[in-house]
Amino acid sequence: MSLRGSYGLAAADFSVAQDWGAYAAEEHALFRRLFERQAKLVPRYACAEWIEALARLDAGSGIPRFDRVSAKLRAATGWEIVAVPGLIPDDAFFTHLANRRFPVTVWLRQPEEFDYIVEPDVFHDFFGHVPLLFDPVYADHLHEYGKGGLKAMRLDAVKMLARLYWYTIEFGLMKTHDGIRAYGAGLISSGGELAYCVTDPAPKRLDFDLETALRTDYQIDRYQTTYFVIDSFAQLMRDTAPDFTPVYDRLRNLPVLAP
Ligand code: PHE
Ligand code: CO
Repeated sequence: MSLRGSYGLAAADFSVAQDWGAYAAEEHALFRRLFERQAKLVPRYACAEWIEALARLDAGSGIPRFDRVSAKLRAATGWEIVAVPGLIPDDAFFTHLANRRFPVTVWLRQPEEFDYIVEPDVFHDFFGHVPLLFDPVYADHLHEYGKGGLKAMRLDAVKMLARLYWYTIEFGLMKTHDGIRAYGAGLISSGGELAYCVTDPAPKRLDFDLETALRTDYQIDRYQTTYFVIDSFAQLMRDTAPDFTPVYDRLRNLPVLAP
C-alpha cells in the first residue's frame, strides 16, 4: 500500500510541522461538516468521558491548531499532539506514545471520502483520539500501551498487541448507566458505525477479555462483527497491567480466532 502523506519532509521521529496557515478554506469547511455530523451523534452514542472532554476543545470551527490543543493537554494530563504525515512505523508510533505524544495526521480527506476513508486523516485522529487524552485514566493507559508496544517489538508480539489496540482504542465499547456507549476512535469518528455499534442487533458484544482480544483477528474494511465491552477505563488499565510476556508465549501456540 502506498501512503499519501508527504513523508519526505518528516523528521527522524516522523513528525512534521502542521503549517496550519496552509489549509484551504474548503478544508476547514469540510472538517466543520464532519464535526457537525458527528456532534449530533455523540450525545447519544459516545461515553460520558469523551463527551466531557470534547467540551474542553473548541474544535468545531475548523481544523484545530495542534499547538494550542497541546498547551491545554499538557496542563491537563501531560500529553501533547505531534503532527505526522500519516501512518508511521511501529517503533516511531510506540515511542511517541511512550513519551505521551499522540501522533495526529496533518491532512484531511477529500470531499468524496466524507463517509469512508481507508487511511486515518486529521478528522479521525483528532476527533476520535484526542478528546480522551484529557481523561486521566485513559491518558495513563495509552502511555502504558506505548511502553508495552516497545516491549512487544522486542518479544515479536506486535501483531497480538495491535489486536488489543483495535478492539479497545479504535473499536472499544463501554457499559454505562445509560447503556452501551462507544469510546473507540474508529467508532466515534464514523458516520455510520457509531450508531450501529451501539444499537444494531447483529454484532456480538463480548465482555472485554484480554486474551480473547489479543487472539482475535480484525477486518479493516467493514463494520466490526465483534466488539469488546469494558466497564470503565480503570478496568482496562487493571486488566492490561500484568506483564504480557507469559501471555504472549502462551497465545503464540494457540490458533488465532476469526473476527
Ligand atoms: N502490561 C503490558 C506488558 O507488560 C503492557 C501494556 C499496558 C499493554 C497497557 C497494553 C496496554 O506488556
Ligand atoms: Co485511529
